[in-house]
Amino acid sequence: MDAIRVNLIFSKLRRYFEGLLPESVKLLPLKRFFWKRHIPFFMNDKPVAVVTGASRGIGRSVAIGLAAEGYDIAAIARSTDSEGMEFLAQEVVRLGAQFFPIGLDISCTSCHKEVVSNILERYGRIDILVNNAGVAPLQRSDILDMSEESYERLMNINLKGPVFFAQKVAREMLWLKEHIELYKPVIIFITSVSAVLTSTNRAEYCISKAGLSMASSVFADRLACEGILVYEVRPGIIETDMTIKVKDKYDKLIHEGLVPQKRWGIPSDISKAVASLARGDWAFSTGTVFEISGGLNIHKL
Ligand SMILES: NC(=O)c1ccc[n+]([C@@H]2O[C@H](COP(=O)([O-])OP(=O)(O)OC[C@H]3O[C@@H](n4cnc5c(N)ncnc54)[C@H](OP(=O)(O)O)[C@@H]3O)[C@@H](O)[C@H]2O)c1
Repeated sequence: MDAIRVNLIFSKLRRYFEGLLPESVKLLPLKRFFWKRHIPFFMNDKPVAVVTGASRGIGRSVAIGLAAEGYDIAAIARSTDSEGMEFLAQEVVRLGAQFFPIGLDISCTSCHKEVVSNILERYGRIDILVNNAGVAPLQRSDILDMSEESYERLMNINLKGPVFFAQKVAREMLWLKEHIELYKPVIIFITSVSAVLTSTNRAEYCISKAGLSMASSVFADRLACEGILVYEVRPGIIETDMTIKVKDKYDKLIHEGLVPQKRWGIPSDISKAVASLARGDWAFSTGTVFEISGGLNIHKL
């Protein structure tokens, strides 16, 4: 062996031990070993969906919808020990899919690496990431009274967390696409109509969602040439725990015509759209915004 090759091997070993290589590359020797022996259980046969904020509301419906589409599920929420997660586990297993619950506060960016690595250890692949976890401000207050604390909370959970989680997963997808036949990776960002509609009493939410909408476009642009499709799904007013506190207010507004279709959205309105994207029905539409809001997008005179 010549000196250059020895140097290369040592530099790779050094980077490996220093943790500078992506997780998937670390697994490479193991994967190659198993692939040569054609052991199917290391690399999941079925595609795998990672859904954040999966314990309730839109995320739970999305996870169930994807399990029905033939995906095994990695479900993320702050705690794995909740009624919501238990219900989801039962539904996913009932649909014949595997279920892997993960406890992660999405705003903990230093935790992302270990979580992605655990998913790859369990399933060997990630086919779809649905970045759904998100929160409303704890208290609605006028933009002139908005606190830095509330602003930072929203930015960390709704924007910084999903952006860096998507970055980690996208890097793994780049490697996986070289090693999985018929691999069609997709990343979906669940934003909100608040990305483009103002609410003066929850500005931090609107700003975080506007940022996430742009993040979706930038990822779509960067990853289009890599064969990774990126979509923004933009819900309107959806009946979940998030909107329960303002139910009476929106009941009235919706009845008066704020939403042209005159009804609340329900989580399955969103999960059906995600399932359609997952099926590949929109394979030539990367970077598209799918607004599901009963007509809130119509500009009226
Ligand atoms: N409902 C609407 O009208 C509406 C409209 C437009 C957009 N959206 C967006 O849709 C997404 C889902 O909303 P939803 O209405 O389904 O809300 P939800 O019912 O309140 O559920 C939020 C989910 O996110 C998880 N979550 C919250 N904070 C988290 C964190 N720091 N790290 C990880 N997971 C976290 C929650 O799980 P745990 O509490 O168990 O951690 C839960 O599973 C959000 O991004 C929201 O902004 C909702």
